[in-house]
Amino acid sequence: MSSVTSRPRKLYVKSYGCQMNVYDSQRMADVLAREGYVETSMPDDADVLVLNTCHIREKAAEKVYSELGRLRVLKQAAALEGRSLTVAVAGCVAQAEGEEIIRRAPVVDLVVGPQNYHRLPDLVARAARDGRVVDTEFPAEDKFDHLAAPSAAVTRSRGVTAFVTVQEGCDKFCTFCVVPYTRGAEFSRPVAKIVAEVERLADAGVREIRLIGQNVNAWHGEGPDGRAWTLAQLLYRLAAVPGVARLRYTTSHPRDMDEALIAAHGELPALMPQLHLPVQSGSDRVLAAMNRKHDRAEFLAVVARLRAARPDIAMSSDFIVGFPGETEQEFRDTLALVDEVGFASAYSFKYSSRPGTPAADSENQVSEAEKTERLARLQARIDFHAAAFNAATVGRTTEVLFESTGRHDGQMTGRSPWMQSVQVMAPASVKGEVLTVRITGTGTNSLYGALLAPARHDGAAPNDTASRNEALRPHEAARAASGGL
Ligand code: 5AD
Ligand code: SF4
Repeated sequence: MSSVTSRPRKLYVKSYGCQMNVYDSQRMADVLAREGYVETSMPDDADVLVLNTCHIREKAAEKVYSELGRLRVLKQAAALEGRSLTVAVAGCVAQAEGEEIIRRAPVVDLVVGPQNYHRLPDLVARAARDGRVVDTEFPAEDKFDHLAAPSAAVTRSRGVTAFVTVQEGCDKFCTFCVVPYTRGAEFSRPVAKIVAEVERLADAGVREIRLIGQNVNAWHGEGPDGRAWTLAQLLYRLAAVPGVARLRYTTSHPRDMDEALIAAHGELPALMPQLHLPVQSGSDRVLAAMNRKHDRAEFLAVVARLRAARPDIAMSSDFIVGFPGETEQEFRDTLALVDEVGFASAYSFKYSSRPGTPAADSENQVSEAEKTERLARLQARIDFHAAAFNAATVGRTTEVLFESTGRHDGQMTGRSPWMQSVQVMAPASVKGEVLTVRITGTGTNSLYGALLAPARHDGAAPNDTASRNEALRPHEAARAASGGL
């Protein structure tokens, strides 16, 4: 057995919730790597264990406390081995509940909010030295300036697609949502910092960059000319970074889809024909009560403009059922919207009352039974359109970025331009390449395909006028299959 002193200190990070937490978890690992911490996939091997939590719905937040209960045993086991285990709670539950976590969960040594991850090495040391620590301030300094970059080898081990946070926080204040409170006001990172991060990722072999932000299309970071750039400008700039084959961005707000961004979907080859654009409800009254700042017609107009620019764009969305006061007819307006748009995929949730948000105080809450029933009906409609969308790609030839080994021997998994997972018999050497594939069938969660000729060496998706004009229009096929509206 190795002695305690010679053993490298181990870090285990568990991420809940959204993609920004995945990105943040990596940044936490990177900043602690500078202090000699090595990541482990085994919690019982860890010296520092971080739960990167989500506060968006009650269920997600409560998960943290049950996990913390289980960690008590782990902490005792570490103590028996003569090691100490530092348990940290990060993320949005940390931000929202702070001291409350310390009170409720004796196992926790450290609570750190999303704006303070750059202070983690210091906070871990303080917790070991002085006892339990809470840091949920919104500091004056920019955490991004103090977070470490991973080595090329670590970047490569994380895969050929990477998230890059370009925007954080939200100023929209939808009445159901905790994000403006947990992540704070909108903040846009400057162009130079984003470009440097993307160049570093591309140098290490990353081919697809997914820009992330709670309200990513509200991004307006400072450009090298000292002016605020638009997201469209940023996308063009990043498409010019050598090695970058594909760009995506998420999550967007319908109000912030400006003309230049919509046009970029038709004109920028690296920008994939796929967009996650949450609408939440198809009822104008509910949208107003949610303070969404757009109505149904405005949302549909944005979708129509996107489809005019890029006919094959795969639309996805988020929905909430059972928002306070939602009637059966209002819920049916949501079902009708799903049919009208023909989403390629969508997430749907039961409304969850969040402390501190305006809707939480509404007296006309919808019953749990009603929410469950509506959710099932909505999910059936969403699944129907997703299946139709996937079926419409069968027989087509498209380009797949290969990401990892597949489920079966000899299989590799990649993604289509529309974000579908595709299983293909191919050698492991195709990882990181964009290759032409014929889609041969659909499975439960992915498509099956067969490799055709190697794709263009720059790996870009075809986007010349001819191929756009022939582009499949899966939403139309889906609409035809559902009988339309
Ligand atoms: N209850 C249910 N769903 C919610 N979301 C955000 N807040 C709530 C809530 N209080 C959903 C929205 C959002 C997604 C990330 O989570 O649909 O787009
Ligand atoms: Fe929450 Fe609305 Fe902001 Fe999205 S736009 S993060 S739903 S407040």
